[in-house]
Amino acid sequence: ALPRDLEGVRVVVSAGGTREPLDPVRFLGNRSSGKQGYALARVAAQRGAEVTLVAAHTAALPDPAGAHVVSVSTAAELQVAMEDAAAEADVVVMAAAVADFRPAERAECKIKKQGDGSAPTVTLTRNPDILAGLAQRRRPGQILVGFAAETGDEHGSVLDHGRIKLKRKGVDLLVLNAVGEGRAFEVDENTGWLLSPSGLEQRIPLGAKSELAATVWDAVAELVRAQGRR
Ligand code: PMT
Repeated sequence: ALPRDLEGVRVVVSAGGTREPLDPVRFLGNRSSGKQGYALARVAAQRGAEVTLVAAHTAALPDPAGAHVVSVSTAAELQVAMEDAAAEADVVVMAAAVADFRPAERAECKIKKQGDGSAPTVTLTRNPDILAGLAQRRRPGQILVGFAAETGDEHGSVLDHGRIKLKRKGVDLLVLNAVGEGRAFEVDENTGWLLSPSGLEQRIPLGAKSELAATVWDAVAELVRAQGRR
């Protein structure tokens, strides 16, 4: 049986991938299926938490038992829903893959092929960093968990990038996923590291997304206990 160590803890989890419309039928999106966020919501509810799940394009997944599901589409909608839910939450987890950019303009009508054979140019504009905003308006004692999808490159390893993002995002816990061909996005299994500002660098072995979720909630439950709330 799972521990009931999140009894009465109010959590909000984001899941899935945002879509940024170009015109009424086209969008910029990403490969997030929502599986990892749903696993987090499901396991939290099983451990006794009160769960709000903010879901972006996760139609293939059944609602986790006991969770209150809010459906959104764009990063702007996800931001409003997260800020709303976070105002009443003890723990906030950002597992959604949020578009960093959106088309600067959304065409009213479907963009047509041009007669001269040329292709349209799409200008992008920045979306807000939702997690950074949540960190700024954090309630006293609220625990904030971020995810990071990283690839190693000439500037450093996945872990190097994760350490930098941990500092920049101002979170209590960061789940670092190495992404690339067939990893993390869409599949049923996940792996990575769990990082914290106090120097925790815990390797999370490859396993079901529910197992990674359990590792995250173990660490959150410990932080909740350390606050003396239970
Ligand atoms: O949904 P699945 O198919 O199961 O895949 C799971 C996953 C790979 C999507 C998930 O495990 C994951 O890594 N989610 C975060 C992906 C991501 O967008 O990482 P990032 O490094 O771009 O962003 C870092 C953090 O900032 C994330 O917590 C993200 O939610 C948040 N963010 C990012 C951009 C933005 N504009 N606002 C944000 O709040």
